[in-house]
Amino acid sequence: MTYAFQNARAVQRERLAALAEALDPGTVRQLVSIGVGRGWRCLEVGAGGGSIAAWLSERVGDGGAVVATDLDTTVLRERSRPNLEVRVHDVLEDELPDGSFDLVHLRLLPAWLSEPQRALQRLASALRPGGWMLAEEMDFGSVAPDPRMDAEAAARSRAWRPRTVPSCPGSTASTCTTAGGWPGTWPTPG
Ligand SMILES: C[S@@+](CC[C@H](N)C(=O)[O-])C[C@H]1O[C@@H](n2cnc3c(N)ncnc32)[C@H](O)[C@@H]1O
Repeated sequence: MTYAFQNARAVQRERLAALAEALDPGTVRQLVSIGVGRGWRCLEVGAGGGSIAAWLSERVGDGGAVVATDLDTTVLRERSRPNLEVRVHDVLEDELPDGSFDLVHLRLLPAWLSEPQRALQRLASALRPGGWMLAEEMDFGSVAPDPRMDAEAAARSRAWRPRTVPSCPGSTASTCTTAGGWPGTWPTPG
């Protein structure tokens, strides 16, 4: 599996930082609402620059653990923490432990994959029964920011768009699920 960008390139480092700045507040809101807390075991897939992996590692504390994966861990591996394991890993090819994570999170990854559904199925198998998957992807279909965005998020979206993906409408769609099903999808402004 190949990916169009190389995280080792300076421009990609900048791009990953811009994504984190724009999207982390929305992602963190969702992770908090799921209830991610101390002692959780989390898998952050296609972790990019690792900002969410770092947040998770802080959140779960010494008793928890975070495994952060990416095809290219050049930037990610700079986030060294005792409870954070960084792994070079292709979500479509490489082994994952079965049934062991309380949370699997991925953001802006499915659109890059040749078989996104298969990746999601593989990741669901890595969840413990009752565990959570939060899968976030860009809403490539819209032509305008979601009207439910609050003013602050809409402003952030407008500011961020030209710097990163010019054709992108500026919202992400998140799907939150427990291991039991797919209860909802909603827009998550950055
Ligand atoms: C658009 S970036 C998003 C990074 C991060 N999730 C974020 O939202 O800031 C996509 C990331 O997915 C990684 N990636 C692409 N294909 C992958 C694959 N098959 N398995 C694991 N990671 C992959 C890339 O190396 C890159 O770091």
